[in-house]
Amino acid sequence: MLELTHARIGYGPVTVVGDLNLTVGDGESVFLIGPNGAGKSTTLRGISGLNGLQAGTMTWDGQDITHLPASRRAARGIAVVPEGRHVFTQLTVQENLEVAARAVNRAAVRERIDEVFDLFPRLRERQHSFGGLLSGGEQQMLAIGRALAQRPRLLIIDELSLGLAPVIYQHVGETVRELAAGGLSVLLVEQNARLAMRICSRGYLLAHGEVVLAGTVEELERTDEMRDLYLGGLGKVG
Ligand SMILES: Nc1ncnc2c1ncn2[C@@H]1O[C@H](COP(=O)(O)OP(=O)(O)O)[C@@H](O)[C@H]1O
Ligand SMILES: [Mg+2]
Repeated sequence: MLELTHARIGYGPVTVVGDLNLTVGDGESVFLIGPNGAGKSTTLRGISGLNGLQAGTMTWDGQDITHLPASRRAARGIAVVPEGRHVFTQLTVQENLEVAARAVNRAAVRERIDEVFDLFPRLRERQHSFGGLLSGGEQQMLAIGRALAQRPRLLIIDELSLGLAPVIYQHVGETVRELAAGGLSVLLVEQNARLAMRICSRGYLLAHGEVVLAGTVEELERTDEMRDLYLGGLGKVG
């Protein structure tokens, strides 16, 4: 289980997320939703270790990882798909996956890549294409595939649907939902409330760096705030 307690996260002297308490249990799928600039990506940077916590603690399986470097968190099973995907454009699909698989464990690289191809057959078809030539949807599959090639226990995705057509993000989202149903822990940052609530069982609503609502999908669906997200400005209906 991942647990952040009174976490404060920001950039240099600037605090963006004030006092965050957040958990993702084993096999649990949890979303983090909120308007632009709410601090969702900053929260993920704190979890991945790219930004150190300014205060508070983070534990993983009950062990304190507050000061563990980002590279070691990946080895412990925490994999992050960053906002904007950041696939290597000059490497092929297969090379992108190899780099990711090798980074964590040099054994069974081929097997891991095959697992990713089984999950996203489109990537197998495109395995010799350069990352830079893929469509947005294919890049998102590759970015998720790279994270999965590390055989994580927690998959963290920043903005799954961003910039993708509904038919594409529904497809990718369904794969993530199946992974979650199969027992992988998922933390999903997503602006599309409907999509987030289809994939996950529980969630947090973040605004101005604070959790303003938290609960199960059933609980959250009944709140005005989530209804606004469904229907209002943010709630790209999909
Ligand atoms: N590198 C940075 N340095 C300073 N402030 C930043 C940096 N990146 C983001 N911020 C600020 O942090 C706040 C939250 O940003 P972010 O976590 O990206 O929000 P979200 O992902 O919810 O849209 C914003 O006000 C943004 O300006
Ligand atoms: Mg963001």
